[in-house]
Amino acid sequence: MKTLYLGTNTKMYKTCAETGAYLSALSAQIEQKKLAQEEVQFFVIPSFTALHQARGLCGQRILLGAQNMAWEERGALTGEVSPLMLKEAGVDVVELGHSERRHILGETDEQINAKVLCALRNQFIVLLCIGENAQQKRDGISDEILRIQLKLGLRGVGAGQMSSLWIAYEPVWAIGENGIPASKEYAEQKHQVIRQTLCELFGARAGNGMPILYGGSVNAENAAQLIHMPHIDGLFIGRSAWDANKFSALIDQVLTQFREDNANTSNT
Ligand code: PGA
Repeated sequence: MKTLYLGTNTKMYKTCAETGAYLSALSAQIEQKKLAQEEVQFFVIPSFTALHQARGLCGQRILLGAQNMAWEERGALTGEVSPLMLKEAGVDVVELGHSERRHILGETDEQINAKVLCALRNQFIVLLCIGENAQQKRDGISDEILRIQLKLGLRGVGAGQMSSLWIAYEPVWAIGENGIPASKEYAEQKHQVIRQTLCELFGARAGNGMPILYGGSVNAENAAQLIHMPHIDGLFIGRSAWDANKFSALIDQVLTQFREDNANTSNT
């Protein structure tokens, strides 16, 4: 059975207390849904300071993520967080290369690549975020940018490590308050470019098996339409997931579409 991936990064918006309340409510809502084993993989990526507490509230269904990680296990790296510390906090997933880290904090593909290799070495699932900005889209080089970010970000990754790798396609122009969500057709086409590049890099088997999630102004209006597209395996949601009740309602909508699509596929 195909797995649906649904998760959120709470960015720098929730304190420990807020994360705790959010996760308690969300876990309870998810528990009530009648989900088959492995039907949906949920994940929540809170602030570093909330990780320890969040671990106990994730339950069986939600993987716990970190928003960033250092590229070495130990070192004179003031202000960085080591993979060993994330392991100790019970983290499952490490998000790397989010647009805000690339564009506000100046992270390069080379730095992101070093982090990807370090996270894989430490047995985390890596959620690598990629996406073109508005100027690159206007210049008609979005596909090239995605291919470059994948090739540089995944340099040195072996085909054997691919089962621990998830990709999030998040066009920079679609993210946040001023973002315009990508149309389902546009997102689908970019997911195909990503899929093709992964297959070129790692072979068809590994490349086809890797989840590719869409992120950028996902909301209650577009979530089900996006998940209906054949190459979109999941959604990486910001603002629309930060209220547990609203996220739960969005999950229900997406799940209905996902189940319908799966039933149609198995009937053909
Ligand atoms: P948004 O955030 O859904 O609020 O646009 C997406 C993201 O930054 O991953």
